[in-house]
Amino acid sequence: MRIFVAGATGALGRRLTPLLVRGGHHVTGTTRTSRKAEQLRAAGVEPATMDGLDRDAVMEAVAAAKPDVVVHQLTALSGSPDLRRFDKFFTETNRLRVEGTDHLLAAAQAAGARRFIAQSFTGWPNERSGSPVKTEDDPLDPHPAAASRQTVAAIRHVETVVRAASGIEGVVLRYGGFYGPGNTLGAGGELLEMVRKRRLPVVGGGGGVWSFVHIDDAARATVLAVEDGAPGLYNIVDDEPAPVREWLPYLAQVIGAKPPMRAPAWLVRPMLGEHGVSLMTRIRGSSNAKAKRELGWTLAYPSWREGFRDGL
Ligand SMILES: NC(=O)c1ccc[n+]([C@@H]2O[C@H](COP(=O)([O-])OP(=O)(O)OC[C@H]3O[C@@H](n4cnc5c(N)ncnc54)[C@H](OP(=O)(O)O)[C@@H]3O)[C@@H](O)[C@H]2O)c1
Repeated sequence: MRIFVAGATGALGRRLTPLLVRGGHHVTGTTRTSRKAEQLRAAGVEPATMDGLDRDAVMEAVAAAKPDVVVHQLTALSGSPDLRRFDKFFTETNRLRVEGTDHLLAAAQAAGARRFIAQSFTGWPNERSGSPVKTEDDPLDPHPAAASRQTVAAIRHVETVVRAASGIEGVVLRYGGFYGPGNTLGAGGELLEMVRKRRLPVVGGGGGVWSFVHIDDAARATVLAVEDGAPGLYNIVDDEPAPVREWLPYLAQVIGAKPPMRAPAWLVRPMLGEHGVSLMTRIRGSSNAKAKRELGWTLAYPSWREGFRDGL
């Protein structure tokens, strides 16, 4: 198939495109820089240079690629988020999820593409009440913390327009928290360094439930969604959603760091804000049953336990 990967140089795109090329697909991948375009070409990917917020450039790049499938992996998430100003950190990503999705979807439809795959996120955007683990049928948080409202709205936009698009199969992959090479939770990444330096405490009872996925498992799920599967939403997470009080001390241990500090919520609220405290104490995790059942996805790292130990 002819596949257009918007964001081919990102954390997921870098691991996805080699799998697609090896699978015999013709892959066009986007970047904004000529240096990365050359790297893509060397990896067997046809480079396309475009700004995802420039509608004309997107329409032109997708039309030239004549894709069967368009994969939207555009984000702008490098650096460390300030959890008190979460939406501010996500401003560009939210634009890519709203305007960028609209441009890419229109371009895919105009080019006659059969299928559109978009990146979303699962974990903290879940409703923060009821069961600790949510499925695709459970609602997004109707009352997100103030600092994350725009980001939830952008996620809602991607998920709504992609599934409602006419004449094209819309698939939304809600990835859990990525870890592994090239990620903030990977060798040299900011989050891993925070754990190493004991700057990430277990807050309160550490009851916030996180869903992780190794970047290569996420890439393999994406290939399956490109090639087959019913349109709709899929949680792309591992088998073991887990509270902070379990995964954070374990992570510290396997990377040879001292155990994380413990801090009451009232003490860290001024630094982390309500959203930051919620991430550590209240959020819910996600189930991967649908992706395993309907995409036939199997994981190399079914749990972050072996993933953190062997896959970072
Ligand atoms: N589910 C998750 O946990 C999740 C999801 C996504 C990202 N992240 C994390 O966020 C961090 C950064 O992610 P990342 O490495 O993927 O980098 P990133 O800076 O988010 O970029 C991702 C891709 O989007 C492209 N891009 C960004 N802005 C663009 C724009 N305006 N127009 C066109 N293309 C644009 C980039 O292309 P060029 O820069 O080459 O132009 C790149 O290919 C990593 O630590 C990653 O783990 C986590």
